[in-house]
Amino acid sequence: MESGDTGSVRNWIGSLGYVTRRMIFSILSVGPLPNHIAFIMDGNRRYSKKHNLGEGGGHRAGFIALMSLMKYCYELGLKYVTIFAFSIDNFRRRPAEVQSVMDLMQEKIEGLLKEASVVDHYGVRIRFVGDLKLLHPPVREAAEKVMRATANNNRTVLLICVAYTSSYEIVHAVEEACHEKFDKLRELVDRNEDEEKEDKMIKLVDIEKHAYMAVAPDPDILVRSSGETRLSNFLLWQTTNSLLYSPMALWPEMGFTHIVWAVLNYQRRYAYFEKLKKQI
Ligand code: FPP
Ligand code: MG
Repeated sequence: MESGDTGSVRNWIGSLGYVTRRMIFSILSVGPLPNHIAFIMDGNRRYSKKHNLGEGGGHRAGFIALMSLMKYCYELGLKYVTIFAFSIDNFRRRPAEVQSVMDLMQEKIEGLLKEASVVDHYGVRIRFVGDLKLLHPPVREAAEKVMRATANNNRTVLLICVAYTSSYEIVHAVEEACHEKFDKLRELVDRNEDEEKEDKMIKLVDIEKHAYMAVAPDPDILVRSSGETRLSNFLLWQTTNSLLYSPMALWPEMGFTHIVWAVLNYQRRYAYFEKLKKQI
């Protein structure tokens, strides 16, 4: 329990922060604003070691940072935020660590449905992206429940990549495209129609259509915390023309200033990126 005085000081600081952010965001909105930012949330275990937080402590701190960053992104008017929450390769980590992240995810995903969360406030539609069969069953059930519960939210979208890698996404999309083509050809044969008229080749658009990330435009900015500049098999297909921004801060240390820097960098390079997109 906090005393009335402490509560009102906290509210006052919160309001001051909000007004300051609004002022900075309105200055930023004079220039072009991104529509979609993707984050590789790296550096959680290093943060845990640095602050002696024990198993899972860094990832817990990382979730708190995620909630703040989502709030800043949606305040800034972004429509899409994508996060790399757990790679398929991360399942090869120590079982105790995998279990600890899965437990955290289950707890936090269930918490996202509570009123007064960021999801409720900004009308966020949540989509989980990846091979959800690989998730521990309670996490998968929580994820499916959240997707159903937020399916009608249409102001903003949060894409949570779990049990995801780009290679898996591409293989999955190719398989889906082949099945679709095969079904179409079989239907023509069954109806005794001329299947020669159907193009038998798989095209780029067929694969792109079946990518998990087809539900969102390509990210304008990809942020990887902790100074790492690798993409680690994340959104390889979608980031050809994205600005890469790699601040030294560990993920739980990421905050408002990093979002502002990412957007300023994007604005500085905007004309150049637009020119690149038009070149063949
Ligand atoms: C990478 O840091 C981060 C992860 C493997 C998991 C991050 C997950 C969360 C912050 C929770 C997300 C929860 C929901 C509900 C979306 P790392 O472990 O590689 O840290 P290191 O680079 O210091 O080793
Ligand atoms: Mg890491």
